[in-house]
Amino acid sequence: MKLLAIETSCDETSAAVVKNGTEILSNIISSQIEFHRKYGGVVPEVASRKHIEVIALVVKEALENAKTDFKHIDAVAVTYGPGLVGSLLVGLCYAKALAYSLKKPLVGVNHIEGHIYANFLKSQITNSKSQTNHKSQIPNFPLLNLVVSGGHTNLILMKDHGVYETLGRTRDDAAGEAFDKVARFLGLGFPGGPIIDETAKRGNPHAIEFPRAMMGEEYGYDFSFSGVKTAVVYHVKKKGLPSGKALDDLVASFQSAVVDMLVIKTIKAAKDKKVKALALAGGVSANSELRRRLKESAEKEGLEVIIPPVELCTDNAAMIGCAGYYRLKRKEQSDLSLTAVSNLKI
Ligand code: KG4
Ligand code: ZN
Repeated sequence: MKLLAIETSCDETSAAVVKNGTEILSNIISSQIEFHRKYGGVVPEVASRKHIEVIALVVKEALENAKTDFKHIDAVAVTYGPGLVGSLLVGLCYAKALAYSLKKPLVGVNHIEGHIYANFLKSQITNSKSQTNHKSQIPNFPLLNLVVSGGHTNLILMKDHGVYETLGRTRDDAAGEAFDKVARFLGLGFPGGPIIDETAKRGNPHAIEFPRAMMGEEYGYDFSFSGVKTAVVYHVKKKGLPSGKALDDLVASFQSAVVDMLVIKTIKAAKDKKVKALALAGGVSANSELRRRLKESAEKEGLEVIIPPVELCTDNAAMIGCAGYYRLKRKEQSDLSLTAVSNLKI
């Protein structure tokens, strides 16, 4: 079964062809970052316009790379939320028109669910013997997912396909948002996550003791990142904007605080809920320190960790195709009344 998937929830226009749910035949991602960089963040109006300009080309390329054509597509999957409403609508309208004209099933996918399903695609990195292995097996349930992106930070217990329990979420900024805002404040550029990741490699993570928020039992599995962001701002106000080694140390210390909060709560939730497997998902899971620390802590506790390859961490349509396949298997086909839901919950 070949599924054509479309993802346009934020600033990446992506189309993929996924075979039997887990095999990526193509995964084309057209990033708009260059158009948003000068504004220091994603401009929603610009994002929807750019999606319109490239969507047909991106879909065409996805079909060509998969050596297939519209006639051989069995279903169309599309992200319908959460995300920027104008951006979502471009992909959704395109997908609906395609499904209607091809007379093929349409399936709407939740973007967060899509990130989780990046771990169900073939070729993940696991902490088993060989570092990179092409998994032929899907993860076991229950699976505890740490979903960390520019818009979300959620700890989600997945009991089966499509059965989710949100154990915790951020009460303010998402982890990726904190990375982006701190990078912008320090004048490092946009998007901040990858720049912070690189800068932190040169710094000492113990140089500055930034606060780890909401670590008490009373906060459960919720997160908060606005405190550490403000602590960076106060530090700079007091000591001035650093450069060189001092900047590297500041960035490494900030990243270490964010990673600590994420890893400690995730491991605690895994132990409390007695799950054996953890999965990392979303753009921030590309962070090298988070990947390293989560693997290290999980190994100590005898937990399996599944982490998508870096190229499947950030927004892409292959993950939407995989989630869409499992939805179709559960007969959760959508109809043409499907609409964009910017604050869609999982
Ligand atoms: O999942 P994603 O592509 O889009 C959303 O659904 O939000 O995530 C984008 C976020 C941005 O905040 C970006 O700065 C962050 O992921 N990110 C990273 C890294 N690569 C991307 N954060 C930390 N370290 C990275 N290497
Ligand atoms: Zn995303």
